[in-house]
Amino acid sequence: MPLVTTKEMFEKAYNGGYAIGAFNVNNMEIVQGITEAAKELNAPLILQVSKGARAYANHTYLMKLVEAAVIETGLPICLHLDHGDSFDLCKSCIDGGFTSVMIDKSSLSLEENIAETKKVVEYAHDHGVVVEAELGTLAGIEDEVNVSAEDSSYTRPEDVQEFVERTGCDSLAIAIGTSHGAYKFKPGTKPQLRFDILEEVAKRLPSFPIVLHGSSSVPQYLVEKINAHGGNMPGAIGVPEDQLRQAASLAVCKINIDSDLRLAMTATIREYFDEHPDHFDPRQYLKPSREAIKELVAHKIINVLGCNGKA
Ligand code: G3H
Ligand code: 13P
Ligand code: ZN
Repeated sequence: MPLVTTKEMFEKAYNGGYAIGAFNVNNMEIVQGITEAAKELNAPLILQVSKGARAYANHTYLMKLVEAAVIETGLPICLHLDHGDSFDLCKSCIDGGFTSVMIDKSSLSLEENIAETKKVVEYAHDHGVVVEAELGTLAGIEDEVNVSAEDSSYTRPEDVQEFVERTGCDSLAIAIGTSHGAYKFKPGTKPQLRFDILEEVAKRLPSFPIVLHGSSSVPQYLVEKINAHGGNMPGAIGVPEDQLRQAASLAVCKINIDSDLRLAMTATIREYFDEHPDHFDPRQYLKPSREAIKELVAHKIINVLGCNGKA
């Protein structure tokens, strides 16, 4: 099976009350850990590549790793550009074989966001590629852009219909309280997503796939492991998994997870070197970190996304 778009995946997910996991990939071990879990659980999958990942690993390497995953798993896999920041970057990924791109102009005015998104949609659709856009601004860090909590803003439900109609985008990322990175909520506060906004958006966009960025749950056992082995991450707090599961049962069809993969990999490597300070063969510490990613992704597929058995 070749790489697929998200069209059919999202239709089934919307009607089935589950979501597809969109996991960020940067190297071979991450691709393998994610796809081995998905294969064992027969789960559809989105592998996404940020601008930074593409600069780190190179387009062709990532493309070939994902193609290898398709061959090895036989799963429906979509290869998606995460947070595309320009038409040229989106075009380059479309021309280079990606089946989905995100154009993220959420920091611009509504009119500018519509104009820039529409341009990407026209090119993408001419090439059989689907487009995710964003309305509302998430706090946190992505690539070199750091959005403070004060500058973030929830999506305005009254804008979504006009935005989708005028741009022709295929899915929409909205801001309902998630944020990028490992420090999503102030310690001592109760994390709570704005389900009222999600429900209002869903009412205005019937059967339309909604995307949640910044959806790592920052498992405390991983933070504790990092801190127990020389790390310093006090106050790292993520989105509660039961709230993500609730979102997945509603209009949310794509849930983005990157930070949790980083935590799993880093915790495992820190622990490994504490226990084996004399080792220096990368395979020795990358093998258990790949396994940790696999375990984490399996947990997400079953307990957060609900997409096991849906491939
Ligand atoms: O939303 C951002 C993703 O976590 C990707 O992060 O831009 O550091 O690769 P990155
Ligand atoms: P996290 O930082 O919560 O993993 O979010 C990742 C993301 O939204 C990628 O686009
Ligand atoms: Zn994101």
